[in-house]
Amino acid sequence: MTFDTQHCRALITGASSGLGAEFARQLAPEARALFLTGRRLDALEAVKAECLALNPQLQIHLCTGDIATDEGRGRVLENLQTSGFQPNLLINNAGMGDYGTVATAEAGKLRAQMDLNMTALVLLTHACLPRMQRPGGIINISSLASTLPMPAMAVYAASKAFVTSFSEALAVELEPDHITVTCVCPGPTPTRFSQTARRPDGEDTDRGGQGLLRIPPQQVVAEALQALRAGQTCLYPGFGVRCASRLFRHLPRVLLRVLLRRRFAKGSV
Ligand SMILES: NC(=O)c1ccc[n+]([C@@H]2O[C@H](COP(=O)([O-])OP(=O)(O)OC[C@H]3O[C@@H](n4cnc5c(N)ncnc54)[C@H](OP(=O)(O)O)[C@@H]3O)[C@@H](O)[C@H]2O)c1
Repeated sequence: MTFDTQHCRALITGASSGLGAEFARQLAPEARALFLTGRRLDALEAVKAECLALNPQLQIHLCTGDIATDEGRGRVLENLQTSGFQPNLLINNAGMGDYGTVATAEAGKLRAQMDLNMTALVLLTHACLPRMQRPGGIINISSLASTLPMPAMAVYAASKAFVTSFSEALAVELEPDHITVTCVCPGPTPTRFSQTARRPDGEDTDRGGQGLLRIPPQQVVAEALQALRAGQTCLYPGFGVRCASRLFRHLPRVLLRVLLRRRFAKGSV
C-alpha cells in the first residue's frame, strides 16, 4: 500500500523545530493544509511564515500545547475539532531525550520522556484515527536508539523500542483500513535534540563515533516521505544508519552487552 502526499492534510507534532519543522517545509509546496503543534508559539509562527513563502495557498493551523499532558493533548484535539481539520497524514514527531544515568536522573525528566515519546504518540494516534481521511498515512518518529539498549540514555532508547514495535503492529492492523504506517529510525541528526537532552549539570552521554552516522534533517525527512509514499514500514535513513541498524539488530545480545559495558566503563558519563 502506498500514500500520495500530493494535496495532503498533515497534522505534525513537534513542528516548531528540527525534523518536525522540516516535515512542514518539505510538505508545504504540495500540501493542501497543515496543522502544526508544539509548545512555542513564536517558533511555530516562524515555521508558518516559511511554509507560506513556499506556498501562499496553503492553509496552516497552529496549536500550542504540552502533549505530554492530558490537558495539552485535550487542547490539541479540541482545536482539531473546532477548526474542522480532518488530517489524512499524521506525523508523530515530538520527542525528547535525557543524557545521563537513570540513578542520577530527575524523576520529572524520566516521566516526561515516557509521557511524550510513548503515551502522547499512542493516544494522539488513537484519537485521530476516527477522524482521519482514507487513504491515510502515519509517520512515527522512532530512533536508531530503538535497536539497542543504551546505558546513559536508557529510558529514551527503551521508549523508542516501544515506538518501533507499536508502529510495526499498527502497520499490520491499519493496512486493511487503507492507512499506511511508516516508522522512521534516524541516527544522530543536528537539531535542538542534544540541547534539550543535556542536563544542567553537564552530565552527558558518549557520542563518540556519531559523526559517521550523522545526516542533515533535510535528508532524514526526504527519505521518510519517500518511504511513506512507497509503503515502507520501517526506515533507517542514511547509509551509515542502515548499516549500524543491521549490525545492532543481528549482533548476539550477549556480545552487544559486552560492548556496551566497555563503552560505559570508558567513562562515557
Ligand atoms: N536529533 C536526533 O539526533 C534524533 C535522532 C533520532 C530520533 N530523533 C527523534 O526525532 C524527533 C524530533 O526531534 P528533533 O531531533 O527534531 O528535536 P527538536 O529540534 O528538539 O524538536 C523536538 C520537537 O518536539 C516538540 N516538543 C518537545 N516536547 C514537547 C511537549 N512536551 N509537547 C509538545 N511538543 C513538544 C518541540 O517543540 P516545543 O519546544 O515548541 O514544544 C520540538 O518542536 C523526536 O521524536 C526525537 O526523539 C531525533
